[in-house]
Amino acid sequence: MTQDKTEHHVMFASTILLVLFTGLTLFVVSIVRASPGPDSAASSATFRTKCAMCHGENGVNPKPGFVPMVGPSRFDRIDTMKTVPYYKYATTLFDVMRRSMPYQMPKTLTNDELYALSAYILVLNKIIGEDEVMDAKSLPRVKMPNRDNFIVWDPDKIGYDPLRMDGAPR
Ligand code: HEC
Repeated sequence: MTQDKTEHHVMFASTILLVLFTGLTLFVVSIVRASPGPDSAASSATFRTKCAMCHGENGVNPKPGFVPMVGPSRFDRIDTMKTVPYYKYATTLFDVMRRSMPYQMPKTLTNDELYALSAYILVLNKIIGEDEVMDAKSLPRVKMPNRDNFIVWDPDKIGYDPLRMDGAPR
């Protein structure tokens, strides 16, 4: 009789454990899926710990004297503030960060972190969607808002037209 009872208890306890385990797993999965892609906890946590002290929380309201990571995407006035959205290519963002950021300890970020940070900053600027993933293939394909506005008004004067990709003098 006592053995029967113990068996019942063990069965009951393992059922509870199984239910708890399943519930927890589903809970974790739902959290992970609710925030996919670049806005993932990882890239925003990296930004918060390694970049925000200068560039501002979420890339806005930087420390005095530092540049924000979020800015306007239309450059119809000469004095419009220029930061990441001004870049002609999204790969410039990767390149700048890879060579020089964080300012006080450059070249400490892995390529994965750099792609994730690129995605994070492009999402903040609404240049890509939240669930887009940036890697060696997708980053160069991002069309920056200001890409077609780099015009040399008088290419003859400098002897070459950068819009002719062969770079041949005219
Ligand atoms: C200690 C302060 C500091 C920290 C921390 C820092 N930066 Fe910077 N960042 C700067 C300064 C200063 C500049 C301007 C450098 C220059 O123009 O030579 C800059 C410039 C940039 C630019 C170019 C902005 C533009 O308008 O072209 C990007 C992008 C950037 N930082 C990203 C990051 C990222 C991502 C991190 C975190 C991994 C980071 N920075 C951490 C100080 C900092």
